[in-house]
Amino acid sequence: MVLDPGDTVVVAEPEYLGAMQAFHNAGAELTGIPIDHGGIDLDQLENALAAGLRPKMVYLVPHFHNPSGSTLSSSRLERLFALASHHGFLVVLDDPYRELTADGETPVEPDAHPMAVHLRSTSKILAPGLRVGWLIGPRWLTIAIERAKQSADLHTSTASQAIARRALAADWFPTHLATLRSATRTKRDALCDALDATLGERISFTRPGGGMFVWATLSGVESTDVLLTRALDRGVAFVPGSAFAVTHDLSSCLRLSWATANTDELIDAVSRLARSVEIGSKR
Ligand SMILES: Cc1ncc(COP(=O)(O)O)c(C=O)c1O
Repeated sequence: MVLDPGDTVVVAEPEYLGAMQAFHNAGAELTGIPIDHGGIDLDQLENALAAGLRPKMVYLVPHFHNPSGSTLSSSRLERLFALASHHGFLVVLDDPYRELTADGETPVEPDAHPMAVHLRSTSKILAPGLRVGWLIGPRWLTIAIERAKQSADLHTSTASQAIARRALAADWFPTHLATLRSATRTKRDALCDALDATLGERISFTRPGGGMFVWATLSGVESTDVLLTRALDRGVAFVPGSAFAVTHDLSSCLRLSWATANTDELIDAVSRLARSVEIGSKR
Protein backbone atom coordinates (compact mmCIF):
# COMPACT_ATOMS: atom_id res chain seq x y z
CA MET A 1 0.00 0.00 0.00
CA VAL A 2 2.76 2.43 0.97
CA LEU A 3 5.58 0.36 -0.50
CA ASP A 4 5.96 -0.88 -4.07
CA PRO A 5 8.45 -3.59 -5.04
CA GLY A 6 11.88 -2.03 -5.44
CA ASP A 7 11.21 0.86 -3.03
CA THR A 8 13.90 1.61 -0.48
CA VAL A 9 13.26 1.46 3.27
CA VAL A 10 15.85 2.79 5.69
CA VAL A 11 16.17 0.79 8.90
CA ALA A 12 18.63 0.82 11.77
CA GLU A 13 21.40 -1.74 11.77
CA PRO A 14 20.89 -3.94 13.77
CA GLU A 15 17.13 -4.01 13.21
CA TYR A 16 14.05 -5.90 14.42
CA LEU A 17 13.72 -9.02 12.30
CA GLY A 18 9.89 -8.95 12.06
CA ALA A 19 9.92 -5.51 10.44
CA MET A 20 12.64 -6.51 7.99
CA GLN A 21 10.63 -9.61 7.02
CA ALA A 22 7.53 -7.46 6.40
CA PHE A 23 9.54 -5.09 4.19
CA HIS A 24 11.08 -8.00 2.29
CA ASN A 25 7.58 -9.44 1.75
CA ALA A 26 6.56 -6.11 0.19
CA GLY A 27 9.53 -6.39 -2.20
CA ALA A 28 11.36 -3.44 -0.64
CA GLU A 29 15.13 -2.98 -0.60
CA LEU A 30 16.66 -2.28 2.82
CA THR A 31 19.36 0.25 3.62
CA GLY A 32 20.80 -0.14 7.12
CA ILE A 33 22.08 2.89 9.03
CA PRO A 34 24.13 2.24 12.18
CA ILE A 35 22.48 2.99 15.51
CA ASP A 36 24.09 4.15 18.75
CA HIS A 37 22.71 4.89 22.20
CA GLY A 38 20.88 8.02 20.94
CA GLY A 39 19.26 6.43 17.89
CA ILE A 40 20.22 6.07 14.23
CA ASP A 41 23.21 7.99 12.97
CA LEU A 42 21.62 10.94 11.18
CA ASP A 43 24.92 12.18 9.78
CA GLN A 44 25.20 8.90 7.88
CA LEU A 45 21.57 9.12 6.75
CA GLU A 46 22.07 12.70 5.61
CA ASN A 47 25.23 11.73 3.69
CA ALA A 48 23.37 8.86 2.01
CA LEU A 49 20.52 11.22 1.05
CA ALA A 50 23.03 13.72 -0.33
CA ALA A 51 24.59 10.88 -2.34
CA GLY A 52 21.23 10.10 -3.95
CA LEU A 53 19.46 7.65 -1.62
CA ARG A 54 15.69 8.11 -2.07
CA PRO A 55 13.85 6.11 0.62
CA LYS A 56 10.08 5.78 0.59
CA MET A 57 10.16 5.15 4.33
CA VAL A 58 12.42 5.38 7.36
CA TYR A 59 11.46 2.77 9.96
CA LEU A 60 12.50 3.29 13.59
CA VAL A 61 11.82 1.82 17.00
CA PRO A 62 12.14 5.07 18.99
CA HIS A 63 12.20 3.67 22.54
CA PHE A 64 14.28 0.76 23.85
CA HIS A 65 14.88 -0.50 20.35
CA ASN A 66 14.69 -4.20 19.61
CA PRO A 67 17.49 -5.34 19.57
CA SER A 68 19.90 -2.49 20.48
CA GLY A 69 18.01 -1.07 23.50
CA SER A 70 18.68 2.43 22.13
CA THR A 71 16.28 5.38 22.52
CA LEU A 72 16.05 8.07 19.86
CA SER A 73 16.80 11.51 21.29
CA SER A 74 14.21 14.24 20.74
CA SER A 75 16.78 16.35 18.88
CA ARG A 76 17.44 13.49 16.42
CA LEU A 77 13.70 12.97 15.95
CA GLU A 78 13.27 16.67 15.12
CA ARG A 79 16.14 16.48 12.67
CA LEU A 80 14.67 13.34 11.10
CA PHE A 81 11.31 15.06 10.69
CA ALA A 82 13.03 17.95 8.92
CA LEU A 83 14.72 15.48 6.54
CA ALA A 84 11.35 13.75 5.97
CA SER A 85 9.72 17.07 5.05
CA HIS A 86 12.58 17.92 2.73
CA HIS A 87 12.91 14.55 0.98
CA GLY A 88 9.28 13.41 1.19
CA PHE A 89 9.70 10.06 2.95
CA LEU A 90 7.40 8.53 5.54
CA VAL A 91 8.73 8.09 9.10
CA VAL A 92 7.35 4.98 10.82
CA LEU A 93 7.83 5.04 14.59
CA ASP A 94 7.17 1.51 15.83
CA ASP A 95 6.85 2.03 19.56
CA PRO A 96 5.74 -1.08 21.51
CA TYR A 97 8.29 -0.62 24.33
CA ARG A 98 7.74 3.06 25.20
CA GLU A 99 5.97 2.38 28.51
CA LEU A 100 8.62 -0.08 29.71
CA THR A 101 10.89 2.55 31.23
CA ALA A 102 13.22 1.28 33.91
CA ASP A 103 14.39 4.67 35.10
CA GLY A 104 11.49 7.09 34.78
CA GLU A 105 8.07 7.97 33.53
CA THR A 106 6.63 7.19 30.09
CA PRO A 107 8.25 9.48 27.51
CA VAL A 108 6.08 12.25 26.11
CA GLU A 109 4.20 11.56 22.86
CA PRO A 110 6.08 12.85 19.84
CA ASP A 111 4.45 15.80 18.08
CA ALA A 112 2.30 14.89 15.08
CA HIS A 113 4.03 15.34 11.76
CA PRO A 114 2.41 15.09 8.31
CA MET A 115 5.01 12.50 7.23
CA ALA A 116 5.04 10.41 10.44
CA VAL A 117 3.03 7.48 11.74
CA HIS A 118 3.27 6.26 15.32
CA LEU A 119 2.57 2.56 15.94
CA ARG A 120 1.47 1.41 19.39
CA SER A 121 0.67 -1.99 20.84
CA THR A 122 -0.87 -3.74 23.83
CA SER A 123 1.55 -6.66 23.38
CA LYS A 124 4.17 -5.58 25.88
CA ILE A 125 1.91 -3.91 28.44
CA LEU A 126 -1.18 -6.18 28.52
CA ALA A 127 -0.87 -9.45 26.61
CA PRO A 128 0.71 -10.34 23.26
CA GLY A 129 -2.16 -12.75 22.56
CA LEU A 130 -4.71 -9.93 22.35
CA ARG A 131 -3.23 -8.88 18.98
CA VAL A 132 -4.46 -5.32 19.43
CA GLY A 133 -2.49 -2.28 18.42
CA TRP A 134 -3.26 1.18 17.15
CA LEU A 135 -1.64 3.89 15.14
CA ILE A 136 -1.63 7.67 15.04
CA GLY A 137 -0.90 9.20 11.67
CA PRO A 138 -1.99 11.58 8.96
CA ARG A 139 -5.56 11.18 7.70
CA TRP A 140 -4.55 10.15 4.15
CA LEU A 141 -2.64 7.23 5.61
CA THR A 142 -5.13 6.09 8.25
CA ILE A 143 -7.94 6.01 5.65
CA ALA A 144 -5.80 3.93 3.29
CA ILE A 145 -4.75 1.56 6.10
CA GLU A 146 -8.37 1.08 7.17
CA ARG A 147 -9.34 0.10 3.62
CA ALA A 148 -6.35 -2.22 3.24
CA LYS A 149 -7.13 -3.91 6.57
CA GLN A 150 -10.79 -4.33 5.63
CA SER A 151 -9.82 -6.08 2.43
CA ALA A 152 -7.22 -8.24 4.21
CA ASP A 153 -9.15 -9.51 7.27
CA LEU A 154 -12.28 -7.31 7.69
CA HIS A 155 -11.15 -6.14 11.16
CA THR A 156 -9.37 -7.12 14.37
CA SER A 157 -11.55 -9.14 16.77
CA THR A 158 -14.02 -6.73 18.36
CA ALA A 159 -13.90 -8.74 21.59
CA SER A 160 -10.11 -8.25 21.81
CA GLN A 161 -10.50 -4.56 21.05
CA ALA A 162 -13.13 -4.18 23.80
CA ILE A 163 -10.91 -5.99 26.33
CA ALA A 164 -7.93 -3.78 25.41
CA ARG A 165 -9.99 -0.60 25.61
CA ARG A 166 -11.37 -1.42 29.04
CA ALA A 167 -8.02 -2.56 30.39
CA LEU A 168 -6.18 0.56 29.23
CA ALA A 169 -8.83 2.76 30.90
CA ALA A 170 -9.14 0.65 34.09
CA ASP A 171 -8.34 1.96 37.57
CA TRP A 172 -5.75 -0.77 38.07
CA PHE A 173 -3.84 -0.04 34.85
CA PRO A 174 -1.45 2.64 36.25
CA THR A 175 -0.53 0.30 39.15
CA HIS A 176 0.00 -2.52 36.67
CA LEU A 177 2.33 -0.29 34.62
CA ALA A 178 4.26 0.70 37.73
CA THR A 179 4.72 -3.00 38.56
CA LEU A 180 5.94 -3.70 35.02
CA ARG A 181 8.43 -0.84 35.26
CA SER A 182 9.74 -1.92 38.59
CA ALA A 183 10.18 -5.51 37.30
CA THR A 184 11.88 -4.09 34.20
CA ARG A 185 14.37 -2.21 36.37
CA THR A 186 15.06 -5.15 38.68
CA LYS A 187 15.54 -7.65 35.85
CA ARG A 188 17.57 -5.30 33.66
CA ASP A 189 19.91 -4.65 36.58
CA ALA A 190 20.17 -8.34 37.48
CA LEU A 191 21.10 -9.23 33.90
CA CYS A 192 23.50 -6.33 33.34
CA ASP A 193 25.20 -6.73 36.75
CA ALA A 194 25.67 -10.46 36.15
CA LEU A 195 27.13 -9.80 32.69
CA ASP A 196 29.58 -7.27 34.14
CA ALA A 197 30.55 -9.51 37.03
CA THR A 198 30.83 -12.75 35.06
CA LEU A 199 32.08 -11.76 31.63
CA GLY A 200 33.92 -8.56 32.56
CA GLU A 201 36.06 -7.30 29.72
CA ARG A 202 34.93 -10.06 27.37
CA ILE A 203 31.59 -8.31 26.87
CA SER A 204 30.65 -4.74 26.07
CA PHE A 205 27.16 -3.26 26.15
CA THR A 206 25.28 -0.13 27.12
CA ARG A 207 22.73 -0.58 29.91
CA PRO A 208 19.39 0.29 28.28
CA GLY A 209 16.90 2.64 29.94
CA GLY A 210 14.10 0.08 29.64
CA GLY A 211 12.43 -2.33 27.23
CA MET A 212 13.40 -6.01 27.22
CA PHE A 213 16.81 -6.33 25.60
CA VAL A 214 20.54 -5.96 26.07
CA TRP A 215 22.60 -5.78 22.88
CA ALA A 216 26.16 -6.88 23.52
CA THR A 217 29.44 -7.50 21.72
CA LEU A 218 31.66 -10.39 22.80
CA SER A 219 35.37 -10.45 22.20
CA GLY A 220 37.33 -13.59 21.49
CA VAL A 221 34.47 -15.74 20.17
CA GLU A 222 34.45 -17.11 16.64
CA SER A 223 30.82 -16.12 16.00
CA THR A 224 27.68 -15.88 18.08
CA ASP A 225 25.91 -18.26 15.64
CA VAL A 226 28.42 -20.95 16.62
CA LEU A 227 28.28 -19.91 20.27
CA LEU A 228 24.50 -20.36 20.24
CA THR A 229 24.77 -24.12 19.61
CA ARG A 230 27.10 -24.51 22.60
CA ALA A 231 24.91 -22.23 24.75
CA LEU A 232 21.76 -24.23 23.91
CA ASP A 233 23.58 -27.40 25.02
CA ARG A 234 24.09 -25.64 28.35
CA GLY A 235 20.44 -24.59 28.58
CA VAL A 236 20.62 -20.91 27.69
CA ALA A 237 19.42 -19.13 24.57
CA PHE A 238 20.01 -15.74 22.94
CA VAL A 239 19.57 -14.34 19.45
CA PRO A 240 22.81 -14.05 17.48
CA GLY A 241 23.63 -10.69 15.90
CA SER A 242 23.41 -12.06 12.36
CA ALA A 243 19.58 -12.27 12.73
CA PHE A 244 19.43 -8.46 12.90
CA ALA A 245 21.95 -7.62 10.20
CA VAL A 246 21.22 -5.83 6.93
CA THR A 247 24.70 -5.68 5.40
CA HIS A 248 27.15 -5.33 8.30
CA ASP A 249 28.93 -8.22 9.97
CA LEU A 250 27.30 -8.53 13.40
CA SER A 251 28.69 -11.99 14.13
CA SER A 252 30.35 -10.91 17.38
CA CYS A 253 27.07 -9.46 18.71
CA LEU A 254 24.10 -11.01 20.49
CA ARG A 255 20.73 -9.94 21.88
CA LEU A 256 19.88 -11.01 25.40
CA SER A 257 16.39 -10.66 26.85
CA TRP A 258 15.32 -10.44 30.47
CA ALA A 259 11.60 -10.54 29.61
CA THR A 260 10.50 -14.03 30.61
CA ALA A 261 13.04 -14.94 33.30
CA ASN A 262 13.20 -14.02 36.97
CA THR A 263 16.37 -12.60 38.56
CA ASP A 264 17.71 -15.97 39.77
CA GLU A 265 17.18 -17.46 36.32
CA LEU A 266 18.94 -14.49 34.72
CA ILE A 267 21.99 -14.89 36.97
CA ASP A 268 22.07 -18.62 36.25
CA ALA A 269 21.66 -17.95 32.50
CA VAL A 270 24.66 -15.61 32.50
CA SER A 271 26.89 -18.18 34.18
CA ARG A 272 25.79 -20.78 31.59
CA LEU A 273 26.56 -18.26 28.85
CA ALA A 274 29.97 -17.52 30.38
CA ARG A 275 30.81 -21.26 30.42
CA SER A 276 29.84 -21.52 26.73
CA VAL A 277 32.04 -18.50 25.96
CA GLU A 278 35.01 -19.91 27.89
CA ILE A 279 34.86 -23.29 26.11
CA GLY A 280 34.89 -21.64 22.69
CA SER A 281 37.44 -19.01 23.64
CA LYS A 282 40.05 -18.18 21.02
CA ARG A 283 42.45 -16.94 23.69
C1 LIG B 1 9.88 -3.43 17.40
C2 LIG B 1 8.74 -4.36 17.43
N1 LIG B 1 7.63 -4.08 16.71
C3 LIG B 1 6.57 -4.91 16.74
C4 LIG B 1 6.58 -6.06 17.48
C5 LIG B 1 5.38 -6.94 17.44
O1 LIG B 1 4.40 -6.35 18.20
P1 LIG B 1 2.92 -6.93 18.25
O2 LIG B 1 2.95 -8.15 19.12
O3 LIG B 1 2.16 -5.81 18.83
O4 LIG B 1 2.53 -7.26 16.84
C6 LIG B 1 7.69 -6.40 18.23
C7 LIG B 1 7.69 -7.64 19.01
O5 LIG B 1 8.60 -8.27 19.33
C8 LIG B 1 8.80 -5.53 18.20
O6 LIG B 1 9.92 -5.80 18.89
